[in-house]
Amino acid sequence: MSQSKVAAHKYQDATQPIEERVEDLLSRMTLQEKADQLCQSWVTDFNPNNPQSANAQRIQPTYGSYVYFIDVPARNGVQKIAMEQSRLGIPALFGSDVIHGCFLTFPIPLAQACAWDPELVRRSCSFAASEARRSGTDWIFSPMIDVTFDPRWGRISEGYGESPYGVSVFAEAAVKGYQGETLDSSDTAACTLKHFVAYGASEGGRDYSYTDVSPVRLWEMYLPPYEAGVKAGAAAIMSSFNDLNGVPVTANHYLLTEVLRDLWGFKGPVLTDWDSIGQLVHQGFATDARDGLKFSINAGIDIDMVTYAATNHLAHWVQTGEVSQERVDESVRRILHLKFALGVFEHPYVKENDKISPERRNEGEKLAEDLAEQSMVLLKNADNVLPISPQTKRIALIGPLLADKSEVLGSWRYAAEVAQTISIEQGLREALPANVSLKTECGCDFDDDKRDGFAAAVELARQSDVVILCVGEKATMSGENTSRSSLRLPGVQEELALALAETGKPVVLVISSGRPVELQRLEPKMQAMLSIWQPGTKTGSAVARILFGQCNPSGRLAVTWPRSSGQIPLFHNMHLRARGDGDQGAYKDISTTPQYEFGYGLSYTTFTYSPIVLKFTTVKPGGELMAEVTVTNTGKVAGSETAFWFINDPVASITQPIKQLKHFEKAAIPAGASRVFKFAIKPERDLTFRNGQGDSILEPGIFNLMVGGQKVSFSVEK
Ligand code: BGC
Repeated sequence: MSQSKVAAHKYQDATQPIEERVEDLLSRMTLQEKADQLCQSWVTDFNPNNPQSANAQRIQPTYGSYVYFIDVPARNGVQKIAMEQSRLGIPALFGSDVIHGCFLTFPIPLAQACAWDPELVRRSCSFAASEARRSGTDWIFSPMIDVTFDPRWGRISEGYGESPYGVSVFAEAAVKGYQGETLDSSDTAACTLKHFVAYGASEGGRDYSYTDVSPVRLWEMYLPPYEAGVKAGAAAIMSSFNDLNGVPVTANHYLLTEVLRDLWGFKGPVLTDWDSIGQLVHQGFATDARDGLKFSINAGIDIDMVTYAATNHLAHWVQTGEVSQERVDESVRRILHLKFALGVFEHPYVKENDKISPERRNEGEKLAEDLAEQSMVLLKNADNVLPISPQTKRIALIGPLLADKSEVLGSWRYAAEVAQTISIEQGLREALPANVSLKTECGCDFDDDKRDGFAAAVELARQSDVVILCVGEKATMSGENTSRSSLRLPGVQEELALALAETGKPVVLVISSGRPVELQRLEPKMQAMLSIWQPGTKTGSAVARILFGQCNPSGRLAVTWPRSSGQIPLFHNMHLRARGDGDQGAYKDISTTPQYEFGYGLSYTTFTYSPIVLKFTTVKPGGELMAEVTVTNTGKVAGSETAFWFINDPVASITQPIKQLKHFEKAAIPAGASRVFKFAIKPERDLTFRNGQGDSILEPGIFNLMVGGQKVSFSVEK
């Protein structure tokens, strides 16, 4: 419907307030039309000339929304059916998993977190939204803000790490980036906080598994990012698959209604995850999907993703009185409100070939490169083997990842421009000084056991001055349904690395992965190690700039890297053992400390921290305590440092973690210069803890403040 036509009904009149349009439309809908709005169907392609195809069967004029796989003609074709064949002409919404970029691919979210720059995250989400909306996605199923302490869980790659505070900051940045100032724009899209909640606590890191989480831990570790995302204005929330303490989240009234609606005042729709209503049967909570629908709708679900239970059974439950008409209306209101806010009633179709401007594309490319560079973490650099010295004349580039353009894009990138990815080899060749030779050998594959390539790789290493060995995980080894029992490099890659180290040539290990990797056997043998995660389209140029020293690495780990998979779970914000952190209770066969702790990351320069200066030694509720630390770049090159401010409450009526991140700031510091980092501690925000009911408790007493290896104490008075 075009705005210039006279509206027949109030809901068609764009000049009316959204609430009134919603009520008008709602009053005209039949029960089945309402039920269909709750249905999210899926479409992988659409051929209007073949309405009998399997896809076409899943398309109905009154369905509310679709999980959709980015194809403008398909979207417009499906939309035409909604607009022209439904009685009321209610447009459908099209949601997609745009997780770390749409066409231009940014580093995976876990990598983005390691850049510790929320503004870069905001801008990358904003860019992704512009590309996605113009190609037919109104609704993005991101950000994924599940905290996890288990790197065996493949979805660790999709989130922002193990600090609830850090994830909360990035959640807010992502929401602001995707949604901008208004949803009614071809540069923004509605976003979805997912997967609500505690999905990252899946037992043993096995995806979709049971989660047993105490109420205190739920409030302390898993709920805060969602609260932050709701405050930031996220349009929608997706419930998680997991059975939480015996009640699957999809049917959990406490979480979906008492917490989300009553406590936090969330107004948008909550959709299930993929077939979660059907999965209530596997979880032993419902006898069939119809039964599951009743539980989930009454718990507070608004949209049924692909179980088709709402379309098939909602009317039945309303007629039997087991689901109230008011409950249904409430869901429909939320869905319609989102549609009006997105402007799809006025603009149901998407223009074909509505590309972003070349200037915006260039900005995006620069951003993708910045984010890739800043998210890479230098783990080891013995004898300053990096950056590669100008004396180096012969470089051996070895490993299954060296020419790859696809694995480095990570999971959830079905619209990514694979051909445009800059491989590591390409990046290095472009940056290589004219008198330096670069020769390549694959050595082995990612995950088979063939060692045929070892001899040639070892020979090449012998004839070279330095070896750059590019190893890691395939894209399909992290993301959904990709749990692994071990964090070791797959296949024979570790063996190849050890064989190359035997040559005595310095080996620089470049690791691409969607999770921390177990490096205990390699660490002593490698001269340098760089975690590049899965950096996206600009992989090769970012790696080259770091290896050749045009860019000083500044990434810091947003997750703990264990020495061995047997140490899992191991995280910075765990609790102290009953006998302290000495030998008592520690592993007897391995160190209990991690290989690399949260916040770890080297630079080509060095930073020193002054003692922390506190303005006062006490603070009262409602007050503020300013803390400062001066950081000096004591090396010869400019670099960026991230100050991580941790708080520890050593004695509390509910015991508290060893330390918790409460504030961070990254800043560039020129060689020889100093920078003052500040943290204004606010007791109610930074010194409280949650009990199992979610109440924030502030207890007077001593607190510890830590930053850059320094520690001071202060007290909170009554
Ligand atoms: C995933 C979600 C995703 C949905 C739609 C599910 O399997 O868990 O993260 O948004 O599919 O693709």
